[in-house]
Amino acid sequence: MFYSDELVEEIRDRNDIVDVISSYVRLQKKGSSYFGLCPFHNEKSPSFSVSSDKQMYYCFGCGAGGNVITFLMEYENYNFKEALEVLAERAGIELPQQSLSVEAKANWDLKTRLLEMHKEAALYYYHLLKSEQGQIGYNYLTNRGLSEQTIRSFGLGYSSSYPNDLYQFLKGKGYKDSELKESGLVSISEKGVYDKFWNRVMFPIMDTNNRVIGFGGRVMGDGNPKYLNSPETKIFDKSRNLYGLNVAKKSKKGYFLICEGYMDVISLHQAGFTNAVASLGTAFTSGHALLLKRYTEQVILTYDSDEAGKRAALRAIPILKEVGIGVKVLNMKPYKDPDEFIKHLGAEEFEQRIKTAMNGFLFEIEVLKEQYEMNDPEQKTKFMTKVVEKLIEFSDELERNNYIDAVANYLMISGDALRKRVNELGNRGFYTQKKETKVTTAQRKKQDKVDGNKEAQRFILTRLSEDVSLYEKIKHIISEDDFVEPLYRKVAQLLFLQLEENNVNPAKIMNHFLENEEEAKLVGAVFHQTLKEELSQEEKNKALKEAIIRIKKQHLEEASKQVQDISELQAIVEKQRQLKELSNFSL
Ligand code: UTP
Ligand code: MN
Repeated sequence: MFYSDELVEEIRDRNDIVDVISSYVRLQKKGSSYFGLCPFHNEKSPSFSVSSDKQMYYCFGCGAGGNVITFLMEYENYNFKEALEVLAERAGIELPQQSLSVEAKANWDLKTRLLEMHKEAALYYYHLLKSEQGQIGYNYLTNRGLSEQTIRSFGLGYSSSYPNDLYQFLKGKGYKDSELKESGLVSISEKGVYDKFWNRVMFPIMDTNNRVIGFGGRVMGDGNPKYLNSPETKIFDKSRNLYGLNVAKKSKKGYFLICEGYMDVISLHQAGFTNAVASLGTAFTSGHALLLKRYTEQVILTYDSDEAGKRAALRAIPILKEVGIGVKVLNMKPYKDPDEFIKHLGAEEFEQRIKTAMNGFLFEIEVLKEQYEMNDPEQKTKFMTKVVEKLIEFSDELERNNYIDAVANYLMISGDALRKRVNELGNRGFYTQKKETKVTTAQRKKQDKVDGNKEAQRFILTRLSEDVSLYEKIKHIISEDDFVEPLYRKVAQLLFLQLEENNVNPAKIMNHFLENEEEAKLVGAVFHQTLKEELSQEEKNKALKEAIIRIKKQHLEEASKQVQDISELQAIVEKQRQLKELSNFSL
């Protein structure tokens, strides 16, 4: 830990969670909480709640939860230290200067070190491009039409043709082999030490906070592989980052262009389309879609015009639709990709293609149609059946009708006939049913018991934080040891301390669980789960009693498994007897 617990708490306390989250999510007040659309999963109705009293957030849909610090860590992909720095600055709190001794440096959290290292590497490649050695790379880029300004703003560079220049450079900056190994920039083995990238033009990949997290390197001229990319590392997750998004996110165009390659993004930006992004040598994922959803609700796919590009578009369309992003597909013909298109036909013509981009659904229909011989009535019928099946998938009636009209128009057939067919099939219950995974009854029973025990522990903690007066009534019966689940035991320990001091502060408890996302979620749930139905006071008390007895029983069961001698066993038997009598304690 870099900063003292007191300082962490002060920073947390001085940043109101409702203020901070409001700048990312539109929140509406409902009762004592605020609600909005969850930024961590896709949803249409708000189940993301922020409590001003508790200074915590929780999503009833996906279970994401925590305090203002975890929010920034999750949303901005910051590590703990970065989140604290941002919040300290926001609250005008000065953080103590870190002494940058070699030792302190070595202790830095690895992620921070890797980010620093990538920044150094990017600068190194950039300087090399401008040096005599990098002349060949510089010429390559300018021959491809990139301006000096473009090269600078994308931070393009050159990796030398010597085997381990970058390694030597980074060693000189104080990075250790163990850290360098984790970066993916060098390989260190008994065969020797080698840089990953040799004699390539370098494309630094940045996250949305403009931090370099990886590289792509292109051979000059022909050669294999054409592009070499950084492997996934602690700071580089290919399915959650998009090339160019750090710039595109500032675009005011209202839609994004998604293309395939580094050079496409750069050419598009240079031509004024600063809303272009690309996935990083991988297929488009739902992680990418959710990331885009933060910035836009409409995209235009500008994938290569070849068969592979078409298939990539067909894969991406449902993924984008799933998160509620509208999709269009741009026709690049007769050119292969946006880079070539712009070189030959220019930005204005590209703008024209944007205006006439095809609706994603119609694009799917068009590709489908290519698979059938439309002059053959049998084939044509099969095709039409497929079209109808696709139309049924629109659950919203208005939308479905609009698509029926659009498809009818596109295929030049009667809208009414198509509508009739869709309704017929729809009424027959033509819906795909989800297959349930098979679990044996015994497995389920065992799992139910485990879940039930955890749920009981969670419930007691939730009730205690909601109604602090309960503590006086049950503190003589229950102790933190009764919480068998280590996480809940730790929460109980912290909460009981606060209850003793009559100063309950859930967000402060949260400070202890910031480094582990899973734990943060569970602790978030402790302070936000409320009973599904509104239970009466009596029912709540009954549920609490049952939960207390349940967890004490479980505690004794666990303890009896570990008895060493007879006297311990006797003590447990005695406690079990007492537990039976306990069932009539009053709340
Ligand atoms: P393309 O082969 O379409 O290259 O790969 P391009 O974008 O037209 O590149 P230039 O114009 O020849 O320089 C598209 C993307 O696929 C990934 C890269 O991200 C590339 O930008 N790719 C391609 C690789 O990761 N490795 C490869 O060997 C080739
Ligand atoms: Mn190209």
